[in-house]
Amino acid sequence: MPETPSEQYQKDTQFKHLFSPIKIRNVEIKNRIVFLPHLPLYADQYYAPTSRTTHYYAERAKGGAGLIVVPSVITHPSGLFPGTHAGYLESNVPKFKNIVDEVHNYGARIFVQLSHMGNQTRSVETFRPLWAPSDVPDLTVGEIPKPLTLDEINQLIDSFVYSAKLLLKAGFDGVELKVAHDGILGQFVSLLKNQRQDQYGGSLENRGRIVVEILQEIRNTIGDVPLGVRLGINRYVPGDYGIDEAIQYTKMFTQIADYISTDTGTWESIDMLVPSMNVPQGFLLPDVKRIKEATDKVVIGNGRIVWPAMAEDALENGYMDMVGMARALIADPSWAKKAEDGKADQIRGCIGCNQKCMGRLLLNLPISCVQNPTSGHEEEYGEDILYKKTETPKKIVVVGGGPAGMKAAEIFARRGNEVVLFEKDNVLGGRVRWESALPGRRGVSGVSRYLTYMLSTLKNVTIHLEREATLEDVLAENPDIVIIATGSTVSTSTPGFFYNTIDAVNGKVKGATVLVLDNDSTTEGAAVVELFLKQGTKVHWVTPAFFNGQNITAPILLDDFKRISGNPNLITHPMEVLTQFEEGKATLFNIYLRSQEEVSGIDAVVEIGIKKANNELYKALQGKVPQLFVIGDAAAPRDIASALEDAVGLSKLVEGA
Ligand SMILES: Cc1cc2nc3c(=O)[nH]c(=O)nc-3n(C[C@H](O)[C@H](O)[C@H](O)COP(=O)(O)O)c2cc1C
Ligand code: SF4
Repeated sequence: MPETPSEQYQKDTQFKHLFSPIKIRNVEIKNRIVFLPHLPLYADQYYAPTSRTTHYYAERAKGGAGLIVVPSVITHPSGLFPGTHAGYLESNVPKFKNIVDEVHNYGARIFVQLSHMGNQTRSVETFRPLWAPSDVPDLTVGEIPKPLTLDEINQLIDSFVYSAKLLLKAGFDGVELKVAHDGILGQFVSLLKNQRQDQYGGSLENRGRIVVEILQEIRNTIGDVPLGVRLGINRYVPGDYGIDEAIQYTKMFTQIADYISTDTGTWESIDMLVPSMNVPQGFLLPDVKRIKEATDKVVIGNGRIVWPAMAEDALENGYMDMVGMARALIADPSWAKKAEDGKADQIRGCIGCNQKCMGRLLLNLPISCVQNPTSGHEEEYGEDILYKKTETPKKIVVVGGGPAGMKAAEIFARRGNEVVLFEKDNVLGGRVRWESALPGRRGVSGVSRYLTYMLSTLKNVTIHLEREATLEDVLAENPDIVIIATGSTVSTSTPGFFYNTIDAVNGKVKGATVLVLDNDSTTEGAAVVELFLKQGTKVHWVTPAFFNGQNITAPILLDDFKRISGNPNLITHPMEVLTQFEEGKATLFNIYLRSQEEVSGIDAVVEIGIKKANNELYKALQGKVPQLFVIGDAAAPRDIASALEDAVGLSKLVEGA
């Protein structure tokens, strides 16, 4: 389509810093957008790149990112972690080359990040004691590692140099050392993990020595190829180093390195490694600026940068030279292209939920994304496949304007079908509306904000609000395909007696003491608890799980607990179920310890996790339309992520649309 004058105007002026080229040493990069290294766990069981890995990076290169950094490629068998790539294996070189060639085809550059997990793996993976600077375990792993001898330190240094040299054969444009939130080099520079008394421990200079030596050796071997450091600039752990020491490290490392890429946190402060929706976007900018002021080498900054406007400001105001983003480009692989083409308003923003990216990684599962369920499934559902124009446009009726219905409407309308969407409320959003009204969950509104906007841009979608579609309404449209996405009803096991989450949001639950019966231990229960605590209500938080909030991913759990733990009005009851409730007295039974306790003075019980599918219309339409589908909570009540996944999955099940 020819560009309109206004599109051309936006392209030329809107993000001119973001789309200006930059050189790192001898390599020119077409823009300032860096897809930061992040372990997606797509490697096979032999630590080799797969075609899934290739498609993942190709999609981001196609989407316009200037530089991609392949994460945590391990330099020595003693540093392996499940799902990482082995950088020391000659047999992996052709597989890395596939990734590099695909990325180059789209005009992007690609660097490789070298690491060794040190004390942040397990000997079941390495078949030998873990290597680390000192015999200090990572608190999230708990395994005591073996302190490296000087001879082993030399082996470690050699492994980095060997892997760097080998991987350049695959065509990588640059090499990066991981001196960040995990990995052995991060452990060497740490004040807590490194307790050595020799030349590799003690002073800041000694702790950074191994990094300098590796940089020097690699530089001697690879010559003019760009060489950088991913540096943790604040570990956010009491007793460990912060920005002041990071500035010293920056000065030391950039004597040799061509760039510093900023990073934060550790596994012990994982809520600051991948800051949640409740941490302000761009929270790290002031610290990044201090790093920038400490060196005249290139600085890649980061820290929950989600939108092009902030990225452009950060460049224009000299906070950084390049903008590093991981989750923003997981959520929207075409982030860069949309910004460049004057379509920044169509970017699908990362909501900072950490649910399917870091949340899955922490379960040792391949990562994906709530906002973008196709992430990690590009070979099957990449943008060009998901939104491929149909040759046989159909008339599609979608009933329900929650996340599942909106996503289905968006997909099928973008494919060129005529879509009619019925929604019983006066706005779109469905369950996103009540979920995002809960404390700490506001960011979830980004799901419906994006979809509502996209639907408004599509001329082939007709939306009927405040219309609870009947069987007759649907049939009157004479549809080829009907998609039922009527959601679920939030309920309780004892309707009329217990309250539910929506009652809590709507202020219907009265009393000085409530019992929150949290059946599924997800963010919903924790958020309802916080809602009551904020009102000054005393809360008994009961869950059958081993601990309260068990099914919440660690970075979000920490985020929640930082706000609610220590509140004198909060009493937790893990591993317990409610067996009787009479006249304000609750009998709680511990299902594992088989003990019983009684809690009195309860004014109300709020039950979480009971939902009933709204599937009457689906049942009534059986056999009455050519193609009928049910998705989201209307099929089986789950969460927002599942609703969006169902809609994407449906794209393969419909015929002809
Ligand atoms: C799933 C996941 C895995 C990560 N793995 C790595 C890694 O292997 N190496 C690294 O340097 N950073 C890693 N990170 C950190 C990111 O590069 C980045 O610093 C972090 O996500 C914060 O930036 P963002 O707000 O742009 O997402 C990872 C992040 C995520 C979400
Ligand atoms: S899962 Fe959530 S935090 Fe992770 S990239 Fe997607 S939207 Fe962002």
